[in-house]
Amino acid sequence: MKHNSVDQNQPTKNKSINLNLKKMENTKSNRNGRSNGATKKMSTNVTQTENSRSGMQSSQLMQLFVEELKDIYWAEKALTKAIPKMIKNATSEELIKALQNHLMETEEQVKRVEQVFEIIDKKAVAKKCEAMDGLMKEGEEIMKESEEGAMCDAGIISAAQKVEHYEIASYGTLRQFAETLGLDDAVELLEATLEEEKAADEKLTEVAVSAVNIEAAQEQE
Ligand SMILES: [Fe+2]
Repeated sequence: MKHNSVDQNQPTKNKSINLNLKKMENTKSNRNGRSNGATKKMSTNVTQTENSRSGMQSSQLMQLFVEELKDIYWAEKALTKAIPKMIKNATSEELIKALQNHLMETEEQVKRVEQVFEIIDKKAVAKKCEAMDGLMKEGEEIMKESEEGAMCDAGIISAAQKVEHYEIASYGTLRQFAETLGLDDAVELLEATLEEEKAADEKLTEVAVSAVNIEAAQEQE
């Protein structure tokens, strides 16, 4: 049997972090359960250790949350510059409309990320996201290599959908982290963007199925 590649493992890794946290929580309550029968002093010591352990876990999770936030902040800002290039190269009316709509959403998403930074009382800082940079470079290459028309449109859709899937994975993780950290307002903001990214991905599939791919296939014949 083949082993999963590193990329395929990425969402699983996030999931396993969540699962591990849950596991730690369970172990904690089991241990606390057992300590009920012990002396009061021992139980206080155990609780103190557990509290500091769980405090450490949540501060590490907060660190991870901030790092991930900086990453998506860079990505969203970069996308406000990359999407107009895609619009310029696209020919299908439907695709142009979908991209224009998502550009407006992306501008709002940048603001939402800034609001999340505010909620956690941190300065909004962008950190270059190498993965998104790679995806955008790939998109540019496709546009450069393919002739204007349905083939180029199909390439743009493919590149844009890869971007959407990266964002869906990031926002899914961020929302989960925010939930674990008890940041209810952040959960709401991240959830709103996550839903927009999913809808944008579905819209691109619709555009591809309805016109672009068929025309691209005909162009090739
Ligand atoms: Fe986005």
